[in-house]
Amino acid sequence: MTLESTFAKRLGNVETSAIRELFKLLAKPGIISFAGGFPDASMFDIDGIKAATDKALGDTAGAVLQYGATEGYNPLRAGLSKHMATKGVTVSPEGLIITTGSQQALDLIGKTMINEGDNVIVEAPTFLATIQCFRLYGANIIGAPIDGHGVQVDRLEELIKAHKPKLVYLIPSFGNPSGALLSMERRKQILALAVKYKTLIVEDDPYGELYFDASATAVAPRSMLSMASEVPGSLDWLAFAGSFSKVMSPGLRVGWLIAPPALLAKATMCKQFSDAHTSNLSQAIAANYLASGSMPAALVKVRKVYAARAKTMETCLIAEFGDAMRFTAPKGGMFFWANLTGARGQSTDVAALAKAAIANNVAFVPGAPFFAHDADMTALRFSFATANEDLIREGVTRLGQAFRSI
Ligand SMILES: Cc1ncc(COP(=O)(O)O)c(C=O)c1O
Repeated sequence: MTLESTFAKRLGNVETSAIRELFKLLAKPGIISFAGGFPDASMFDIDGIKAATDKALGDTAGAVLQYGATEGYNPLRAGLSKHMATKGVTVSPEGLIITTGSQQALDLIGKTMINEGDNVIVEAPTFLATIQCFRLYGANIIGAPIDGHGVQVDRLEELIKAHKPKLVYLIPSFGNPSGALLSMERRKQILALAVKYKTLIVEDDPYGELYFDASATAVAPRSMLSMASEVPGSLDWLAFAGSFSKVMSPGLRVGWLIAPPALLAKATMCKQFSDAHTSNLSQAIAANYLASGSMPAALVKVRKVYAARAKTMETCLIAEFGDAMRFTAPKGGMFFWANLTGARGQSTDVAALAKAAIANNVAFVPGAPFFAHDADMTALRFSFATANEDLIREGVTRLGQAFRSI
């Protein structure tokens, strides 16, 4: 008998992601990476976060270095209640809990809701860690097709009818990996489906604030949560995961969960057994930073930089690939989702391109792992968040060379 043979059976449901394996190759010197999912560290508002940290370790040092409540640090819960109000969401401080990244909010939902064999619907493609996390709880994951406007509602309804899922997980705004923006009309239709079929919708929204529209009146896309008051009954079937990772710092590991009271209570109980509470110091830093009012100006800069990088990537991909590649240019977020079309007999072999790309010192992620089943083998994901515009130009040129070599 080996130690491995005694591991829990549920580990048989998941394997180390192909993407992690790919990341091992990225240590190669000189490589330009479009593969990661990280925000650009040079965009972090270090001065602002330092000031928030000094404040946390001033008067409140005793409290923030002590154990805290599982639900979260109260000043942050109050700050988030106000923050969400500016986004059209009415939620009391007690109506949300702080989680260790939004990843933990998703894990707590899985832990609270999913039995072995339960059906769960996700977008095809969706965030890989969610697929893995829900599978660990024994979920049978079903992918719902998307187009340039997010998940296709008619197909989603057919799948809900056929599979009676425990929940539907969506990333409506600039999703990872799709970059797609779910239309406002579809958001309301999906809320109506939640009520009609009594199915929990989980809205994951880490990217909504990264919109590229720089006009004076531009705001983040309305969350489904902010629309729920217009669809009677839908608040009872909607959970929302928020995150500071892409707008403040992912290393702080601060996210939040808003959910119907019974679900929130059970998720809190599960969190108690998991990590007792999210780091108080991180929560206090986030609370102070939020209260300082520095975030809006920092975000203006981040949006501008990412928008320019996305535009450069779009122009370069069109120049290098022409009709060999198809994509919908994202209106926000960090990702391009594209397909090799095979036009005029050109290659659709993404795996061969990934290999040739690495050999030519540029990396991206093949799209297949983002599908729970029936992977689209012609799909690819590029992140434009971490390479500057010069590197994007050079990287896409290298990618074009790799493509022509396969
Ligand atoms: C769609 C999506 N949800 C959730 C997360 C997790 O974010 P965090 O746990 O850092 O808040 C990510 C991170 O990349 C993501 O892309």
